Amino acid sequence: MAGSDDRWIKDRRRKKERRDRKSRSGADRRLENRGRSEGDRRSGGERRHGDRRSGADRRNEASWRTVSLEQASTTPLDDAALVAAAVDVRERARARFSNFKVGAALETDKGDVVTGCNVENATYGLTMCAERVALYKALSEGKDVFTRIAVVADTDDPTPPCGSCRQLLWEYCGDLEVILANLTEVKRRMRLSQLLPLPFDARLLE
Ligand code: THU
Repeated sequence: MAGSDDRWIKDRRRKKERRDRKSRSGADRRLENRGRSEGDRRSGGERRHGDRRSGADRRNEASWRTVSLEQASTTPLDDAALVAAAVDVRERARARFSNFKVGAALETDKGDVVTGCNVENATYGLTMCAERVALYKALSEGKDVFTRIAVVADTDDPTPPCGSCRQLLWEYCGDLEVILANLTEVKRRMRLSQLLPLPFDARLLE
C-alpha cells in the first residue's frame, strides 16, 4: 500500500512538474530573470510595449527586464494621467487613525490603470497600504504584467512605498517604475530595484 502511495505521489509530482514547465505565471518568469542594471537599459526606439502583440505573446516574455524609466513614460502627460488617478483615489482613503491619505495607481502593460487607497482599521495592525490594495485588485482581475506605479501623498518629501509593499511589488511586478508625487507635482521617479536593492524572492527558495 505504502509503495503504491509512493508511486502515486511521485507520479503526481512528475505531472505537476511537467505542467509547471509548460505554464508558469508572469511573476514566476520574472523571478527567473534579473533586472537590467542601470547601465544596461534598452536604447531609444525599442519600447517593450510599443508594438502590437497578442496577450499570449505578452505573457510569454520576461517583460520586466525591458521597461526603462525613459521609455515607460513617453510624455509628461502620461505621468500626469497616472498621477491624477492616484490623486483621485486618494480621496477614498480610510485613514481616520493616521490622517495620512495615500493613493496609488498601477499601470499594466496594456495601459490599464488599477487604483488603490490605504484602508485603516481600529486594530491599526490590519492596515492595508494603497499600493497593495491596487496590486491585489489588479492580480484578482487577472492582470499580470505591470509597468509603472504612481504613489501620491500630501507631503513635501516624496512618500515611498513601505517595506512590505516594496516586497510585494517586487515579487508580482518586478522592476517597476515608481513615480512619487504629491498633490501638485512629481517629486521623484525611480525604479523598484533602487528601493529594494537586495531582494529576497522565490529564486532563493529554488
Ligand atoms: N501608507 C500607504 O498607504 N502607503 C505608503 O506608501 C506609506 C504608508 C499608509 C498606511 C497607513 O494607513 C498610513 O499610510 C500611515 O502609515
